[in-house]
Amino acid sequence: MTDYGKSDFWALRAQKEHYPARSVYKLKEMAEKFALLPADPAGFRVLDLGAAPGSWSLFLLREFHRRFRPGPGRVPPFLAAADLAPLSRRYDGGLFEGEGFFFLQGDFTRPENRETLAGRGPYHLILSDAAPATTGNRAVDTERSLVLAEEALAYAESALAPGGSLVMKVFQGGDTAGLLRQIRALFATGKACKPQACRTGSFETYYLGLGRRLRENN
Ligand SMILES: C[S@@+](CC[C@H](N)C(=O)[O-])C[C@H]1O[C@@H](n2cnc3c(N)ncnc32)[C@H](O)[C@@H]1O
Repeated sequence: MTDYGKSDFWALRAQKEHYPARSVYKLKEMAEKFALLPADPAGFRVLDLGAAPGSWSLFLLREFHRRFRPGPGRVPPFLAAADLAPLSRRYDGGLFEGEGFFFLQGDFTRPENRETLAGRGPYHLILSDAAPATTGNRAVDTERSLVLAEEALAYAESALAPGGSLVMKVFQGGDTAGLLRQIRALFATGKACKPQACRTGSFETYYLGLGRRLRENN
C-alpha cells in the first residue's frame, strides 16, 4: 500500500468506527501486543496526556464500558486526560461527560496542572501521545518532543503505581538512547514500538516502560 493509501485506510476506518482520529489504531495495537488493559478493569486508573481530539480516551472509555461489570464493592475504572485543545464531542455519545472521566484543558507540563492530574492518581497506566506543534525543523521538533517525553516520565515517577506501565510518543533523532536508559531504570522492561498505523516515513516512535519498579528498587 502507498503511504497515501495507508493513511486513507486508517482514516476511513476511524471514521467508520466513530473515532475522531486514526491514531486510535496505534494505541489499539500496543494495548493488544503488550496487554496494557486488564480483562477486568475494576479500580484501574489511566492518565492520557496530549489527548485531543480524543480517540485514545474514547477507546479506553469504550473498553471500560465493555469490560466492567458493576456490583457491590466493585470500584469503577477511571480515566484522566489533558490537552491544550478541547476534545471532539462528535463521536463520544456522552462518554466524555460520564463519571469516571476527568478532562483538564491546559498544558500538562505546568506545575499546577501536574499537581491536579497527579492528585487524581495513582495510575496503573500513563499514556502520552503528546506532540509539539511542528516547525519543519527536525532538530527543533525532535528536541521539543523529547521534552514532552521527559515530562511524561516525570509523571510516571510521581504518579504511577508499582507494576504500572507508561507509553509515550517520541520523535526519533534526539537522545532516545538516554531516554531508554531512564525508562529501564524505572521499569522492569523498556522498549520501542512503531505501530502499523504510523505514517510510513514518519519519525514518531513509541517508547514503553512496563512494570514500574517499587520505589525501593529505583
Ligand atoms: C497527536 S495529538 C494526540 C491525539 C490523541 N491521542 C487522539 O488519539 O486523539 C497530540 C496532542 O498533544 C497535545 N499537546 C502537545 N503539547 C502539550 C502540552 N504541553 N500539554 C497538553 N497537551 C499537549 C496537542 O495539543 C495535540 O492535541
